[in-house]
Amino acid sequence: MNKIRIAIFASGTGSNAVNLIRFFENDPAVEVAFVLSNKEDAKVLKSSKDMGVTALHFSNQQVADGTFLVDLCTKNSIDWIVLAGYLRLIPSELIQTFKQKMVNLHPSLLPMYGGEGMHGRNVHSAVLKNKENKSGITIHFVNEEFDKGEVIAQFHCALSPQDTIDDLERKIKYLEQTYFPTVVRGVILS
Ligand code: GAR
Repeated sequence: MNKIRIAIFASGTGSNAVNLIRFFENDPAVEVAFVLSNKEDAKVLKSSKDMGVTALHFSNQQVADGTFLVDLCTKNSIDWIVLAGYLRLIPSELIQTFKQKMVNLHPSLLPMYGGEGMHGRNVHSAVLKNKENKSGITIHFVNEEFDKGEVIAQFHCALSPQDTIDDLERKIKYLEQTYFPTVVRGVILS
């Protein structure tokens, strides 16, 4: 039986991309076909290559071109796309082609703290500024509206008044590392 092929899109460090690659390394049903980044010097490209996964860099102009990305994914027989810290807008042609087959990870409890400009530490800083007593992660389908696709799963963490951005980032990373790959596998195979 052919394995389900996923493409991971990532823009930065890639702790989640690396975690996914490791998780699917010996999976009988799912494989990571490639990792794509819009940043030439993104750590995620080197880490993926070091783990034996094809790592592709494309310019911001190329990744804004929906036809280009659809062609790339079609040629590589991609079944699912997983966004793991990918910070560019997804062209609508790609969203249409991968309807209910594109998943994003967001570091807050959506619909709170979502939308344009809300990524990584920006999110954590806004959460702390509002003195929230909890935060968490959301794993959701991608649609045309930024961070508004159907929610697949959410996981919470408690916050204390003393928490700094570093503390919150650590709590979020823990949730991401613990749950993201399992949820991705579950939704792909459901
Ligand atoms: C992760 O915390 C992910 O939730 C967040 O970027 C970080 C990437 O970390 N994504 C967003 O903010 C999307 N709006 P990583 O490069 O170490 O995986």
